[in-house]
Amino acid sequence: MALWSGRFEEGADAFAQAFGASLPVDKALYRQDIAGSRAHAAMLARQGVISDEDARAIDEGLARVLARIEAGEFAFDAADEDIHMAVERALTEDVGAPGARLHTGRSRNDQVATDTRLYAKERCRQLLADNLALRAVLMQQAQAHMDVILPGCTHLQHAQPVLLAHHLLAYAWMLARDFERLAAAYDAADACPLGAAALAGTTYPIDRAWTARELGFAATVPNSLDAVSDRDFLLDLEYACSVCMMHLSRLCEEIVLWSSPEFGYITLSDAFSTGSSIMPQKKNPDFAELVRGKTGRVVGDLVGLLVTMKGLPLAYNKDLQEDKRGAIDAADTLHGCLVCVCGMLETMRVNADSMRAQARRGHLAATDVADYLTKRGLPFREAHAVVGRLVLTCEKRGCELDELPLEEFQAASPLFEADVAECLSIDAIVAARTTEGGTAPAAVAAQMERLAAVDARDRERLDARS
Ligand code: ARG
Repeated sequence: MALWSGRFEEGADAFAQAFGASLPVDKALYRQDIAGSRAHAAMLARQGVISDEDARAIDEGLARVLARIEAGEFAFDAADEDIHMAVERALTEDVGAPGARLHTGRSRNDQVATDTRLYAKERCRQLLADNLALRAVLMQQAQAHMDVILPGCTHLQHAQPVLLAHHLLAYAWMLARDFERLAAAYDAADACPLGAAALAGTTYPIDRAWTARELGFAATVPNSLDAVSDRDFLLDLEYACSVCMMHLSRLCEEIVLWSSPEFGYITLSDAFSTGSSIMPQKKNPDFAELVRGKTGRVVGDLVGLLVTMKGLPLAYNKDLQEDKRGAIDAADTLHGCLVCVCGMLETMRVNADSMRAQARRGHLAATDVADYLTKRGLPFREAHAVVGRLVLTCEKRGCELDELPLEEFQAASPLFEADVAECLSIDAIVAARTTEGGTAPAAVAAQMERLAAVDARDRERLDARS
């Protein structure tokens, strides 16, 4: 018999009962549910709504339920519709009448919203910590490879040489923005709906501010209708997860490319590679591909909840029960991917020689040679055309710009002198880009300092949320 079966004459259809149940998913919220109930019972006693003895019995009973679930000794019942019903049933079986007083002045609607917000906050904290850990690995790898140069690309075509550190830090900045989004999702969840009851508030003299504080919320949700039907905080979490997954997916796409024989820029460790069941020689970047592949599912979680929400009238509707699976999946998936990418990056070998060899291909000095002419008075557009013709000559001869004899340069423009050689080396090209955010070693070092300051500040922000 369900806890709400008083007004029913017939029992539930077995299929319908199972169909309507959310226990398989919301089991994950047992700790939050028990914490919420303990705070609610304590508040009811403080306000004189239930006796201190009842509150004590409830608190001790809930502690036992918690211990049983944690020990794997809790027997869920086929009639347990969700984690809230399961915990309340077990409590009442254990302590009797006091357990039956727990739900005074409360509804599952404000209860589930409270549990879900507590859960979202916890997952955000975990993801914020994971995010910082990956940023630390990117920073370490950048520091360890300050002298490594690779071809920077646009359109996946060689464009200009850049420092590997610079390239890696680009991902660290993406992750720093992901931190902002995850922190915003945390803050969105950080208000307590408890006390909204079913939708309109309650006649009992409850103290919403007290339970909110007791549960570690920064505030109460001001409107009871909104309190029970708002799931924006889950959308924020899923959006934050989606964008972060998209960033990881881009990084993993590069890892897949870079570990291919055509690039050969990196070698993944055996620990983060897999073999083939048929081709004995194979070593595949499966985990990078998996991260890329899982991104689609997390974006699907976000879109799924947006579509679930879009037609809902106020206040609670059972549709809302569909909110948790995607949110849990998004958080689980991002967590796994962040940990996996950390391991992959920490253990990869950087093949600096392959990167450098590729950076010598594709006339990466072309822009700098054009700039050389411009600095000697030729309008940039004309300089561009001169160098374009020189590149065409190279292409026909199958050589690189830096292999062309000085006479060829001088035949193309009388402004060329022997010192043009100085702007042909990839080291010189990198070193010349000293503008803020540019790829010169000193500029990258400055960027690194700036990022380290952001990392330190974000670490403090995470601590403030713990
Ligand atoms: N299992 C439900 C959910 O996750 C709990 C709230 C049920 N409330 C209701 N009025 N049926 O949304």
